[in-house]
Amino acid sequence: MTTTPKDSTNMHAFDAQMAEGVLEYVRDRLALIETPLDGIDDVSKLESLLKDLITKDGIGYEAALKLYDQDLSRMVISADSPKYFAFIPAAPTKASLLFDSVISAASLQGISWLEAAGAIAAENQALKFLSDAAGLPSTAGGTFVSGGSSANLAALTVARDTQRTARNLEKRSLVRVAVSEQAHSSIERALSILDIEALVVKTENHRLTGDALERTLNSDPHPENVIAVVATSGTTNAGIIDDLESIAQVAKKHDLWFHIDGAYGAAALLAPSVKPLFKGFEHADSFIIDPHKWLFAPFDSAAVIYRNPNLAKQVHTQHASYLDVLHGPDDWNPSDYAHHLTRRARGLAFWFSLITYGTDAYTSAIESSIDLTHQVAREMKKNPNIELINEPQLSIILFKRKDWNETDYQKWAAELLQSQIAFVAPSAWNGEVVGRLVFLHPSTTLEMALAAVPK
Ligand SMILES: Cc1ncc(COP(=O)(O)O)c(C=O)c1O
Repeated sequence: MTTTPKDSTNMHAFDAQMAEGVLEYVRDRLALIETPLDGIDDVSKLESLLKDLITKDGIGYEAALKLYDQDLSRMVISADSPKYFAFIPAAPTKASLLFDSVISAASLQGISWLEAAGAIAAENQALKFLSDAAGLPSTAGGTFVSGGSSANLAALTVARDTQRTARNLEKRSLVRVAVSEQAHSSIERALSILDIEALVVKTENHRLTGDALERTLNSDPHPENVIAVVATSGTTNAGIIDDLESIAQVAKKHDLWFHIDGAYGAAALLAPSVKPLFKGFEHADSFIIDPHKWLFAPFDSAAVIYRNPNLAKQVHTQHASYLDVLHGPDDWNPSDYAHHLTRRARGLAFWFSLITYGTDAYTSAIESSIDLTHQVAREMKKNPNIELINEPQLSIILFKRKDWNETDYQKWAAELLQSQIAFVAPSAWNGEVVGRLVFLHPSTTLEMALAAVPK
């Protein structure tokens, strides 16, 4: 005899009290003018906090929510705090956060045109906006994936397979991709997954140029197996934009696929003050840009865009008898443009926010971080104990503090977090530990930023 679990229907019945409780939390969080940094509670409590929570009868939403609110959330550093200056911060707009809740509440998926045309058409509108800003033809397109790492992998898979076909190479033949030492770590990971070797191009001042690429190709014994080049438009460590125009020319000459990793920096295509630095972007065969970074969308959302989406379709489309029905001649299936099938409509929160506030608001928010970065840099230059490593191009400052060693930088970071003044993380430059500050939250004030700068 089978037994029906107790209250099995409750899980799908509307519970007004639970809805009130959770929505109140959401409302309170959204109403915060400044999200607290958090992240300083004692994580050794975690084991006992989580002990025996999964029970036969459940603990009820009140206890679960209280545990999250009063304990677990305090052990997470808020990436959307305007005092978060480490790694790459987040700064989702209120509209994007709210609409993200709608996407969850509606279980909105974005797998296929057959199932989700309304959501996909809107996502594609947002992709077209990004593609137009980059200067690609109107036929360009792609999809939203979970993050820059996944987007780079999707694009490099297309680069590899397309080039092997175009060059009549065997499926497993050795192919290489030219990268600079400053390429993001996810590029190295993607190449390793794809069994592609990297041809590392040495750069002057950490900026990849066409000359450096040409020299490396000319001095390499097997330039014929180099199939692509990856440029970065806004390196993660220093915010440096590679010389895209000259790289594009060399890529064309050697018939290389030209991929641009703009996960962080390509958002600044929307900022007239730095737009000229992106000259040559329009020649990309593929590029990525992460709305969850400098385009103020919630996690997780990264766009991968192809000049010729048909090439991506040939590489990524999944074939199975139960999926044949999805492939109508004019159907745009996001599953054809990356290594995924089931997916959240993760471009929609960005789309909703973009159409809600308008493009000028985005331009102004991005310009404000660039401007703040320059103001902070100017102040830092007045301090004889501080040396800027380079003039910031976007919104990242790398610096050395006189007489500091690795322990001093770590102490600097730990003390700032402990006092909730800021979250910072040291980095390295030419093998030496250095300080690093990243600004992309429009609510970060000069005062907040300067409070994080060592004296
Ligand atoms: C230039 C660049 N590419 C790729 C990535 C990886 O993106 P994600 O963390 O979304 O996977 C990052 C992350 O900071 C990045 O800055």
